[in-house]
Amino acid sequence: MSTQLAQVLDRTFGHPRGLLGRIGGAVMARGNAATERHVVEVAGLAPDETVLVLGPGPGIGLAAAAERASLAIAVDPSEEMLEQCRQRCASAVADGTVRLRLGSAEDTGQETGSVDVVLSVNSVQLWEDRPAAYAELLRVLRPGGRLVLSAHEKWLPVPRHELARELAAAGFTDLQTWVWDPPGRAAARAAQLRAHAPR
Ligand SMILES: C[S@@+](CC[C@H](N)C(=O)[O-])C[C@H]1O[C@@H](n2cnc3c(N)ncnc32)[C@H](O)[C@@H]1O
Repeated sequence: MSTQLAQVLDRTFGHPRGLLGRIGGAVMARGNAATERHVVEVAGLAPDETVLVLGPGPGIGLAAAAERASLAIAVDPSEEMLEQCRQRCASAVADGTVRLRLGSAEDTGQETGSVDVVLSVNSVQLWEDRPAAYAELLRVLRPGGRLVLSAHEKWLPVPRHELARELAAAGFTDLQTWVWDPPGRAAARAAQLRAHAPR
């Protein structure tokens, strides 16, 4: 891939900003919606839970999570994506059931043990320091809290079993991994993973 194309893709989907970022958000809101909603289903959120949505992009999964949990917190390094989340979840932001924060998997800005569930769709391949991110997620999750992670299988930074091994080595327990095919012939296969923080 040429450097120029890589930069365009990064501005559109990886670290969305400007016009390309706005277009990328619209594309992702359509193309990744089924996976975002599926991950929320897999997480089995309870009405009294706090969920941290990492890399929410345009906020489809964030909105679905906010309908089920008591508080949904979006953490994303892209101002453009947080703005799209703000627009999509305007009433939930106004009533305080959705919070938006500039940050990253490596630095979520959340308090220790304050989160029941972490959700991440199509962002793990962008985490610059996975061990630091794993440590950060273990820090913010309450004991026994859960992580549900999904990414296009072709974009994974390492194969999913290797990702599971990394998470186990970091201290997560009860690792499960599988693949999921979103509806639609053009939809890319998702690799998914569930893990728990130790009790
Ligand atoms: C490919 S988009 C996926 C958005 C959405 N989850 C989806 O599947 O449609 C990647 C998202 O992760 C965010 N991101 C990039 N680096 C990140 C990091 N280190 N930690 C968390 N999110 C990150 C981007 O800003 C963007 O919102």
